[in-house]
Amino acid sequence: MKENLSKENRRSFLLKSSIALGGLALLNPSKAISASLDNQEQSFKIITGPYLQTNFGNSISILWITNNDASSWVEYGESPDSLTNKAFGKSELGLKPAGRLNRVKINNLKPGVTYYYRIASKEINNFQPYKVTYGETIYGDTESFANLNTSKEDVSFVMLNDIHDRPESILHLLDLDKGNKRDFVFFNGDIFDYQTDEKQIIEHFLQPCTDYFAKNIPFLYVRGNHETRGKFAREFSSYFDQVGYTSFTLGPVRFVILDTGEDKEDTHPVYADIVDFDQYRIEQAAWLEEEIQKKEFKNAPFRIVMMHIPPRYSGDAHGATHCTELFEPLLNKGKVDLVLSGHTHQYKVHSPDKTSNNYPIIIGGGSRDGSRTLTKINATKKEIQVSMLDDSGKEVGRYVASRK
Ligand SMILES: [Fe+2]
Repeated sequence: MKENLSKENRRSFLLKSSIALGGLALLNPSKAISASLDNQEQSFKIITGPYLQTNFGNSISILWITNNDASSWVEYGESPDSLTNKAFGKSELGLKPAGRLNRVKINNLKPGVTYYYRIASKEINNFQPYKVTYGETIYGDTESFANLNTSKEDVSFVMLNDIHDRPESILHLLDLDKGNKRDFVFFNGDIFDYQTDEKQIIEHFLQPCTDYFAKNIPFLYVRGNHETRGKFAREFSSYFDQVGYTSFTLGPVRFVILDTGEDKEDTHPVYADIVDFDQYRIEQAAWLEEEIQKKEFKNAPFRIVMMHIPPRYSGDAHGATHCTELFEPLLNKGKVDLVLSGHTHQYKVHSPDKTSNNYPIIIGGGSRDGSRTLTKINATKKEIQVSMLDDSGKEVGRYVASRK
């Protein structure tokens, strides 16, 4: 009864407001009022998540999205009955976050320990300069994740690439690996055709991942050339902990992720003078030059590089040839053991070539039925085993790299 009265009051208030505003409301008052009521009457809720991302190293980022602005935090601990620790999103210039896109990074986790957590968001109803009024506080279910010991004996993950706005492919391909325990899932670019809005990111990626695995197992994700396109490409990274270039160690492998950018030249008319990928790739080459000198890179039993556009074998478009020119000499110099890529939509295992790429390049397929692939990677201190399955589950590529 109380709720009905409150809705009635709001309806009457909105009616008065819309009449006062005139314009659009007067052109079609019933439509304007019902649209406003839809927003006003939506109860505060988590619209997707939580989903996990990490570079390992005893930290994890927990992300989720609410329908309204909120003050948010994560409660966590080593037992499901004792979530006694509390972590907030990163403060910027002294301000804690108070928006809809929530990202809480927890640091200083203990290696090899399973943690339990739940997300919490307190709705901000009215943000006045000297009085913030909160609404309801909502909580997610208690979930768990394992904080992997980075010096573990082995590492195991799967790669998906070139999904191109077909979320059912994510589920179908992961189903081929059902029952296997993986340390993470890696998305190697072109999961979308181009970026349009938040709804697309949620429905075509975040929600299927959250439903399938991402509450408990982290994913890593690097952009392909298609994630750089569209009117929402500049907001895209806000939905993730990381979608650019990075490096990390897990088990016997030093991983390097490169963000290969667009496939055409920056001056191509379709980019409308608002991209700068040549410079971005040059910046990454300088970073890679330093990375391959690091002891973590040199001393690792294996070095795996993951990049959407392969450093060879993907045609003569500018982005591809620029990747060859910049990265291939460094990948050879760094004695990389394996490169995992996508982009060509034709799955293939390219063996090392003494005159060009001294390392194997394994390219996953996509995006149509019959050419989609799931690439499974297991590495121990002795060898890396790669097995690529097509979407019927048949192995269509295999490679074993032994320690040099
Ligand atoms: Fe691509």
